[in-house]
Amino acid sequence: MKPWVLLATAQTPGDGAELCLYQRDQEFAIQADDIELMNSRVFGSEKALATLACQKLTDDAKPRVLIGGLGMGFTVRSALDELGINARIRVAELVPAVVRWNRGVLAHLADNPLDDERVSVQEGDVANMIKRGRGAYSAILLDVDNGPNALTSMDNDWLYSIPGLETAHTALKPHGILGIWSSEQDAAFAKRLGQAGFDVEEFQVRSRGNKGGHNIIWIAERI
Ligand SMILES: C[S@@+](CC[C@H](N)C(=O)[O-])C[C@H]1O[C@@H](n2cnc3c(N)ncnc32)[C@H](O)[C@@H]1O
Repeated sequence: MKPWVLLATAQTPGDGAELCLYQRDQEFAIQADDIELMNSRVFGSEKALATLACQKLTDDAKPRVLIGGLGMGFTVRSALDELGINARIRVAELVPAVVRWNRGVLAHLADNPLDDERVSVQEGDVANMIKRGRGAYSAILLDVDNGPNALTSMDNDWLYSIPGLETAHTALKPHGILGIWSSEQDAAFAKRLGQAGFDVEEFQVRSRGNKGGHNIIWIAERI
């Protein structure tokens, strides 16, 4: 098997991880401090995060969706495929280099989602956009770590705390959806979602179509 080739590195702002972009033949991987954050062959559950959330938005004539973060763009692509022409998708990505990679060497992986005119990209912490939200969003989709434990940046812990979840609740429209991706189950986190005022559904999804490992997606409705 061919070895991985390191294409680029980038430092996460603050005290965060170093991201490394690797390629092996047609396959790409992004690692955060040597832990795989994303692989271009494994995106079933990243797409399911958007599908499960956007399918709940059928009554919203002008869906407004916030997605954090960009990764390789599979969640964004899936949201675009689910939503109509009146939708607007804002993508928050903490690491500017990830945005550059998605406009360059990674762009084809999810069929160039950043070229769609419904999409706008904000370089920065999705937490800041959630704090400014105040009833703005039909859905907020979070896939910024490997689950409700900070990995990319220690500041991400706030997103999974009761204050963070209550702020996300405030940023959503009535009956808006908070969707969160996780590599594994976390009963304490699911309980916190309920405590923050959400009606919670938990889905177990496969990472590669009907194959691969199992990941967890929480679809939490603002009540
Ligand atoms: C696992 S990847 C996302 C994968 C993505 N769902 C996809 O379909 O490819 C995590 C991404 O979140 C970004 N990220 C981490 N913390 C963030 C934050 N606080 N705000 C915005 N983006 C963040 C990382 O730089 C990385 O690009």
